[in-house]
Amino acid sequence: MSTQLDGWHRSHNLGELTAQHHGQEVTLMGWVQTRRDHGNLIFIDLRDRFGITQVVLDPARTSNILEVGEKLRNEFVLAVKGVVNRRPEGMVNQKVATGAIEVLVDEAKLLNPSEPLPFQIQDQTDASETLRLKHRYLDLRRPTLKNNILARIHFVREMRRALEAENFLDIETPYLYKSTPEGAREFLVPSRVHAGKFYALPQSPQLFKQVLMISGFDRYYQVVKCFRDEDSRADRQPEFSQIDLEMSFVDREQVLSTMERVISRAWENVSGVKIPTPLPRMSFDDAMEYYGNDKPDTRFELKLQNLTPLVQKTEFKVFINAVSTGGIVNALHLKGQAETFSRKDLDELQEIVKQYGSGGLAWAKVKEGKGQESWQSPIAKFLGDDVVDSINTQLGASAHDLILIAAGDYRTTKAALSALRLELGKRLKLYNPKQFNFLWVLDFPSFERDPESGRLIACHHPFTSPRDEDAHLLETAPEKVKAKAYDLVLNGNEVAGGSIRIHDQNLQARVFALLGLTPEEAQAKFGFLLEALRYGAPPHGGMAFGLDRLVMLLTGSESIRDVIPFPKTNKAADLMTEAPSEVTADELRNLHIRVQKLTLE
Ligand code: AMO
Repeated sequence: MSTQLDGWHRSHNLGELTAQHHGQEVTLMGWVQTRRDHGNLIFIDLRDRFGITQVVLDPARTSNILEVGEKLRNEFVLAVKGVVNRRPEGMVNQKVATGAIEVLVDEAKLLNPSEPLPFQIQDQTDASETLRLKHRYLDLRRPTLKNNILARIHFVREMRRALEAENFLDIETPYLYKSTPEGAREFLVPSRVHAGKFYALPQSPQLFKQVLMISGFDRYYQVVKCFRDEDSRADRQPEFSQIDLEMSFVDREQVLSTMERVISRAWENVSGVKIPTPLPRMSFDDAMEYYGNDKPDTRFELKLQNLTPLVQKTEFKVFINAVSTGGIVNALHLKGQAETFSRKDLDELQEIVKQYGSGGLAWAKVKEGKGQESWQSPIAKFLGDDVVDSINTQLGASAHDLILIAAGDYRTTKAALSALRLELGKRLKLYNPKQFNFLWVLDFPSFERDPESGRLIACHHPFTSPRDEDAHLLETAPEKVKAKAYDLVLNGNEVAGGSIRIHDQNLQARVFALLGLTPEEAQAKFGFLLEALRYGAPPHGGMAFGLDRLVMLLTGSESIRDVIPFPKTNKAADLMTEAPSEVTADELRNLHIRVQKLTLE
């Protein structure tokens, strides 16, 4: 039997037939989702992108049932010609859009069989992610993944609409670019034509979009791939997508308000959830102080509380050591949770902070009474009555509350308590997982010191403008300079970042110098930018949304791998195509390359 179409044309997709089509002759095509035999009748759920339609093979009607019917198995590709039949009352399947009908098949055609599947095409699966990524074409047939990809398409479409409505122009920028240190490690592409030279894949189109502003294309956007050779995580891939944009003649307020209109409109249209604007804002300093990181999950309170001034005069070594070396003592205060946590639970919480480098976690279960009496805690006797009372008062703690305390250097202690806060929020169900809390984080520092080299590095990127009022501190106190940078945070995830840029060539040159670039190095790496800035660069700024992260949150997925059609593993491999792979000696020769494996220290 022929497996060709032989002139058969699909008349309808598998999601569109209703009772109104009763009696119509149709030609349908799709995959066998399930097959059920009822006596002589064979019921097939036929599936395509649009839905599922039940078709019935009946020996009394289907001319070639003997030839086709017995063979059919899951995921075989089938075409049928037949007539739509309204199902009797009571037989209607409310769960599918086409549940009011079935198609009585006159002739069936097997377009392609399928080998037995490595895993079933359904959401509930025991298959490992490795197996699913190897057979990504099958994985993408599973309803969740298919729906995630459809949600991604819908979101991108709505973002495009919202951006176009604000006058943004979709302009492409190159992928074969120049090596420029922007933060992450780069992917290099050897040049065949220029022996010994390399392109780099862009970490983002940052400098092209700035050049576009200088060229006068006010309001650029692009849905674009970015490449960063970083270790992958649940929210990080070596190649990922941004919705990138830039605007001219704007200050920070104008960028933020335009972006609020864009994201709230698109998000509402896709999720159906209203996003109230203006979006809340928080300074970087407050985010660090109260949430311990620069992307606070504001769906629940449980703020970090500063106990440093209260514990200065205790005898408890851990606290004294922290304070005397310039560190901090911070607490989390859980109302009414003393009895929720056993000693074993508290040990588990301690393990969490230890993973983040903190020495340990002190705890106190608050009881009735005063002073040390009011704490069931291994550290009460070291703190003394006054300190215990002052901590209770500052926290507003009363009987049955739990207090968790960490001490140490600022970075470690904040990071550890921030992780603990998130874990407690999840365990104690302190928030509604379906809620969407957008938040702007503002006033980031311009620079930080690389802990290893001690060198200054740009917190956002070197093209970000310092705040006007801080520019005079650049050479004298660079760590005090705040940037005109902003991040958009959603439920504790950084989903966008941007800034107002430097449009003054002298200021840009000063920032390069601060970052340790000699004028020659600055010229070699960013000469085109410094030069372009000399020819009438308008004030400009913009940002980039992390598309994969936004769609992950929109669809309630655990990982961005579930919203990217062909993602890489956390070892940066594509298991389906088996990239990266070795290349032939000839290809290497063309690229003027000889491979010599080095052992890196
Ligand atoms: P930034 O580096 O903050 O800014 O990136 C913008 C957003 O992209 C997402 N993102 C990632 N998503 C998945 N995998 C990754 N490896 C990854 N890295 C970043 C994040 C982030 O907020 N050129 C600037 C933007 C600008 O200043 O306009 C830039 O790239 O959601």
